[in-house]
Amino acid sequence: MADQFDLTVIGSGPGGYVGAIRAAQLGMKVAVVEKNPTFGGTCLNIGCIPSKALLHATELFEEAGHNFSHLGIDIPPPSLNLAQMMAHKDETVAANVNGVSFLFKKNKITSFQGIGSVAGKGRVKVVGEKGEQIIESKHIVIATGSVPATLPGIDIDEEKIVTSTGALSLGAVPNRLLVIGAGVIGLELGSVWARLGAKVTVVEFLDRILPGMDSEVARQFQRILQKQGIEFKLSTKVKAIDKQDDGSLVARLEPAAGGDVTLIDADVALVAIGRKPFTQGLGLAEAGVALDERGRIVTDAHYRTNVDGIYAIGDVITGPMLAHKAEDEGIAVAELIAGQAGHVNYGAMPAVVYTSPEIASVGKTEDELKAEGIDYKIGKFPFTANGRAKAQLSTQGFVKVLADVATDRVLGAHIIGRNASEMIEALTVLMEFNGSAEDLARTTAAHPTLSEAIREAALMCGDGAIHI
Ligand code: FAD
Ligand code: NAI
Repeated sequence: MADQFDLTVIGSGPGGYVGAIRAAQLGMKVAVVEKNPTFGGTCLNIGCIPSKALLHATELFEEAGHNFSHLGIDIPPPSLNLAQMMAHKDETVAANVNGVSFLFKKNKITSFQGIGSVAGKGRVKVVGEKGEQIIESKHIVIATGSVPATLPGIDIDEEKIVTSTGALSLGAVPNRLLVIGAGVIGLELGSVWARLGAKVTVVEFLDRILPGMDSEVARQFQRILQKQGIEFKLSTKVKAIDKQDDGSLVARLEPAAGGDVTLIDADVALVAIGRKPFTQGLGLAEAGVALDERGRIVTDAHYRTNVDGIYAIGDVITGPMLAHKAEDEGIAVAELIAGQAGHVNYGAMPAVVYTSPEIASVGKTEDELKAEGIDYKIGKFPFTANGRAKAQLSTQGFVKVLADVATDRVLGAHIIGRNASEMIEALTVLMEFNGSAEDLARTTAAHPTLSEAIREAALMCGDGAIHI
């Protein structure tokens, strides 16, 4: 007889594993099907976690090489032990994926290793090393995530022409790294290798970096990255990449609008042009589950697909491809299946680029407010006027708070600066509670902290900041 479950989750990324845990906490008998040998999905294995391990290590490498002497710490120029840096990354990944195994056991979640697919109403088929198994389940949640998008005619070998997966595991620092796409992956992993000495050139199809982020932030950030030695070729597309006999690459570039081809040499090319939902092998067509024009599973506001008993969350559905968005949806879908009021507030969903300085944002960008015709006011405070920033040589960047003119309610906030990833949480909480700029301006910030710049920006939405 087939195993019987209340809920079976296909995919153990941040969406799937968090949803499974929440469902188990709510008393359901839960199964998780994962095709990879380890749990945790893209984020823990080949995404958020390994990239942050390398970003942290390379940021310190850069600091030691450039800022220490100014602080009175004279050391010889740091030398790179790339194998050890990669070992640190691998240990970090192992600790995190093992943590998920532990949580599954703790919550009595049954795991199946293999490729899961929908095999009729309330049935999931698992094909793995142990052969084929059928699971019977009242509810099925698809959380199969996403995979890198690729360019026609450009073959990924994960050594010379890589996606983020290969770029997280290069065996040596390339002399010249060509990055295709000035999005989050291109800039984070471009920064990693630039800090270790690679000459990084980023080719971007659009006329700006980080599309979707506040354009003022993106402009300032581009200038900062250029000072760090990263070169940008905007409004440009890569037509082809040719491999040379000596192992090097020659990329053919063309203006986005068409025109003369130029050549650029590289040792490694990173294709980072976005990610696409992964639904291959799930049996969705046979099950009648509807996809949209971009291959994402269509769901309603309660994560239900058009087929009764089948739900979908995370990167495989619409919305930003972010781990915390997938996690929130995992919690919400478990609560909804349990008959509770699960809900995700997409209007207060932070996004972070973990570069140096970091970029963090929540809510609307100025560009969006303009496009929507909303009457907004701006409070902006630079880190050059913040005492703590001066003390720790991190005066680059600013905090920008956008508030509604009529109600003073904060509609969006954007930070470029050190620790922006941590600071944005204050603004996210404020927005979750529909707070106003005045609420923020009247909330004490410890002194001296970088967070004082948030308060000052909020003051700028009213009578004015103190320290500028
Ligand atoms: P995934 O994490 O993709 O997990 C899906 C899982 O399903 C995988 O384990 C896969 O093996 C499994 N699976 C697929 N099909 C089947 C099947 N048929 N049967 C069984 N198992 C299956 N987001 C952030 O918020 N912050 C970051 O700092 C960040 N950094 C990133 C860095 C990189 C380099 C990359 C690539 C992504 C990063 N992301 C980050 C995005 C984040 O990783 C994703 O948004 C997140 O992992 C999506 O979670 P998910 O659960 O929807 O899917
Ligand atoms: P992205 O969507 O962030 O950026 C892709 C970039 O490539 C865009 O600027 C786009 O205009 C450009 N592009 C597209 N086609 C192109 C072409 N043919 N030639 C040149 N440029 C082209 O996608 P990215 O960086 O691959 O990341 C994928 C996803 O992973 C993102 O949705 C992001 O949310 C997530 N992620 C999140 C991170 C974080 O939260 N810190 C870190 C890394 C990834």
